[in-house]
Amino acid sequence: MRIGILISGRGSNMVALLDAVRDGHVYDAEIALVVSDQPSAAGRMRARDKGIRTALVERKGRTREEHEREIIQKLREQRVELVCLAGYMRLLSPYFIEEFRGRILNIHPSLLPAFPGLDAQRQAIEHGVKYSGCTVHFVDETLDGGPIVTQRVVPVHDSDTPDALAARILAEEHAAYPEALALVCSGRYEVVGRRVVRK
Ligand code: GRF
Repeated sequence: MRIGILISGRGSNMVALLDAVRDGHVYDAEIALVVSDQPSAAGRMRARDKGIRTALVERKGRTREEHEREIIQKLREQRVELVCLAGYMRLLSPYFIEEFRGRILNIHPSLLPAFPGLDAQRQAIEHGVKYSGCTVHFVDETLDGGPIVTQRVVPVHDSDTPDALAARILAEEHAAYPEALALVCSGRYEVVGRRVVRK
């Protein structure tokens, strides 16, 4: 499975995926390309340092679809079959989603369907939930709403700030995303309605 990763920032989830593939935890997978839409994304340097091919595709006044056409072209050049969003801070257009239908994963720092969108950790604290966590899901046209591959739970403490909760969740993200990627690359699942069922 040839994998492309899209990032906008520090890329810690990307590193978790790169390391899992390097260490043989994801059967028959290769990270073919890391694409950043931000020139300053630390993740791009981290990928380069690990010997991974990277590309910078800035939006620069183009429409979302024009920008995505260039990303898709780069992914195609590397024969990418599965796309992992790892802190990619733009919504994908229906055009992109159609190109990779059922072959896009995302990680979100809450127990979806609770707290989709931005600032999920702050939303969780303000709502007063006692547990939150992270979710790896397939991407469809809905905001953080596609079929769920895996979730991990963390407690929310009374004294938590959004940053403290984010750090606790992030540690679980780094385990959840490689685990989900391994399942998807193994092909040992099927999507039944909204449910991702292990075979
Ligand atoms: C993570 O919290 C992820 O769940 C969210 O954006 C953040 C990205 O962090 N989608 P990193 O760039 O992977 O370190």
